[in-house]
Amino acid sequence: MHELDPLAAVISADPYPYYERLVAERPFSRDDTLGMWVAASAEAVEVVLSSTVMHVRPPSEPMPNAIAETPMAEIFSRWARMTDGRRQSTVKNAVVATLGRLDWNELTATSERCAKLLARTLSAGGRGDVEAFLLGLPALATATTLGLAQDDASRAVAWTSDFVRSIAPGSTRDEIARGTSATAALSTALLAEPHPDGSLFAVFLDEGRRHRIEDGVIAANAIGFLFQSYDATAGLIGNTLVALARREDLRDAVRGDADLLERVIAEVARFDAPVQNTRRFAAADTTVMGSHVGAGEAVLVVLAAANRDPSVNPYPHRFDPARDERRTYTFGIGAHACPGARMATTIAGAGVSHLLEAGVDFQQFAAPAYRPSLNARVPTFESRVPLGAVS
Ligand code: HEM
Repeated sequence: MHELDPLAAVISADPYPYYERLVAERPFSRDDTLGMWVAASAEAVEVVLSSTVMHVRPPSEPMPNAIAETPMAEIFSRWARMTDGRRQSTVKNAVVATLGRLDWNELTATSERCAKLLARTLSAGGRGDVEAFLLGLPALATATTLGLAQDDASRAVAWTSDFVRSIAPGSTRDEIARGTSATAALSTALLAEPHPDGSLFAVFLDEGRRHRIEDGVIAANAIGFLFQSYDATAGLIGNTLVALARREDLRDAVRGDADLLERVIAEVARFDAPVQNTRRFAAADTTVMGSHVGAGEAVLVVLAAANRDPSVNPYPHRFDPARDERRTYTFGIGAHACPGARMATTIAGAGVSHLLEAGVDFQQFAAPAYRPSLNARVPTFESRVPLGAVS
């Protein structure tokens, strides 16, 4: 059989035997074909993500060239996700404080409402496909939580999709043009007064002002929330459908048991990570586990392989929702660790519950293909199902 590489692995049917070999035999190694270092073991991933020398953008290209002259550049350059040092930590503190003020029961209720609304809209439009549901729900729930009115929140699904496509590597001129309109529309919708009291965006502006951050930077990072939650949360919902499709007993047990569903989603995040890797770039010469990494060199950090490292998760290839002391790298660690993990799992829980309650046939989810991507593992399903059966 053809040996995978760590980029092709992301959307292969079963990348995990390959990751197992990487962890055991090449925990931190140079892949000359890809022209990158590859960090696969838990130790290597921890060393790279904790290093202050490892930055999130290449020193030679802080902005992707394709969008450098577009309005997306300003948004991108203001994200905590794409900057390092003091600027990043100031914005990150405001982000963490903002998300820490979310009312989780309210987010659950909002996400459930959004799941029903989306299912109804997709079914009415003849688009009863699960993929549109997976990709739509995170953006709809996030936009609604940010405080957008229902019409704008519904439009935010398409705006987010256009924005994501426009800044993806290899985007076409047409995609960049659509991304430009989407960026303008999102900024206008977010900054239009008044912001409903207690909405996530009102809280974010408030935290921003307390941290002396301009409103424009806050708006850019709010668009960042939509971007961050888009395909990663779709993947978390989708990979949970796959896990439940393959385990009938668990599927029956999880119906109506919110605590068990929460533990299943936590185990899916580790076992079949929706974000399989991230990247770092050495800002200066450094050493990682005895290997010299030169300034400017790239490292592919294979989070999904580290999740299966037996030194941190005993019997890592066993799917076990009851596992205690689970070590999960899917949401990153260190200065750039994801502040949206609980938001993502809450939205995912609402999405999966909706499909379970709607009586969707889960068996059809057992052997999916995956959407083309170099880092996100988002399943795609052929069939159309009655998504709107729950009133
Ligand atoms: C299953 C869903 C999600 C996954 C797997 C995920 C994963 C990640 C990962 C791996 C990183 C770190 C990247 C790195 O260090 O290179 C990250 C960063 C980030 N995520 Fe998430 N994420 C998810 C959902 C969300 C959601 C819903 C939000 C919304 C608030 C969010 C907001 C962010 C932000 C703002 C950052 C940048 C943090 C920083 O750079 O300091 N994420 N995410």
